[in-house]
Amino acid sequence: METSEIEFPRLELMVATDLKLGIGKENKMAWHLPTEFSYYRRMTSCADGSEKVHASIFATKTWQSIPPEMKPWGNTICFILSRSMTEDDVRNYRDVYVHSSLEEIIAHMRETDMRKRIDRVWMHGGGFGYKEALLSKHFYRLYHTKIDAEFACDVFFPRYDECQLQIVHDPDVPQGTQLDHGISYQIHVYESTGVCPLLDAP
Ligand SMILES: NC(=O)c1ccc[n+]([C@@H]2O[C@H](COP(=O)([O-])OP(=O)(O)OC[C@H]3O[C@@H](n4cnc5c(N)ncnc54)[C@H](OP(=O)(O)O)[C@@H]3O)[C@@H](O)[C@H]2O)c1
Repeated sequence: METSEIEFPRLELMVATDLKLGIGKENKMAWHLPTEFSYYRRMTSCADGSEKVHASIFATKTWQSIPPEMKPWGNTICFILSRSMTEDDVRNYRDVYVHSSLEEIIAHMRETDMRKRIDRVWMHGGGFGYKEALLSKHFYRLYHTKIDAEFACDVFFPRYDECQLQIVHDPDVPQGTQLDHGISYQIHVYESTGVCPLLDAP
């Protein structure tokens, strides 16, 4: 399948992992890399008053790990993937919605009024959210920050086969090796080839 054939919403995953694909510990990030965090925030947020905005998808624990002052995320329309949360849990926020499956979130985004407002769609994780997105026919891109170090993580990004993806160039992404607090990392951008890249697919 050509990427042009991927229907709206095109899911773009944003993740940073250590050498063992670790993504977090005790429901927090396992590292402190301010330059990587600002890149993540810049890519996924929208300017105030933008005509079209990004949508953000978070699975329950990732949503809960965001500090209250950063919610909802960066002027985006937020969708939470959760079976335990309800609309009541987010009633203090504008444009935050809860659904119990990715299919329901996609159906909501495709409603005419919602679709008109949405530009890009970011999957923010965590482990469960990423896996769902990689399995979806709406999976479009993976923005993978590969950190050249190991941390004590208790949650991991799903293993995937890079050969099933195409490397693409995005000029908005810092190029080459980046150094932050003595730790180096590189950002790789991959695009779907229409084949599910998961190595441990159910
Ligand atoms: N390094 C990075 O780029 C990055 C990015 C994001 C997150 N993180 C880190 O990742 C960690 C959080 O990730 P996580 O994998 O633990 O949790 P998660 O994927 O954020 O959330 C998991 C939750 O998803 C919900 N869910 C909804 N439908 C489900 C279904 N059908 N089956 C199973 N679960 C379902 C469940 O909550 P319900 O009971 O509500 O259904 C489950 O507890 C934190 O440490 C965070 O800091 C790191």
